[in-house]
Amino acid sequence: MAEFQVVCRASDIAVGEAKCFEIKGKRIGVYHLQDGFYAIDDPCPHAGASLALGCIEGDVIHCRIHYWGFGIKDGLCREQDIPQHNVQTYEVLVEDDEVSIGTTFN
Ligand code: FES
Repeated sequence: MAEFQVVCRASDIAVGEAKCFEIKGKRIGVYHLQDGFYAIDDPCPHAGASLALGCIEGDVIHCRIHYWGFGIKDGLCREQDIPQHNVQTYEVLVEDDEVSIGTTFN
């Protein structure tokens, strides 16, 4: 069962933007898209850059270093069909302007 941790206020991340937070030692990027908030692992599986600092295009984040794309909603790498290059997605709750991320790791 996921354990939820508050990371910010909903108003802290404008629509079309992202921020990275550290939760239990892991960097997780939180994205505010038109239809809500989403969270994925932040380190790019290619060479470790922060995906949250990349460029959002629709529901895809493009890494700023070598421009690989990753689905913000499904975590799937858009460049290659290699499961190791996908990123983990996390459940997000927004209640009373507070954004919480659900994790199952310790
Ligand atoms: S570090 Fe992200 S695509 Fe290379």
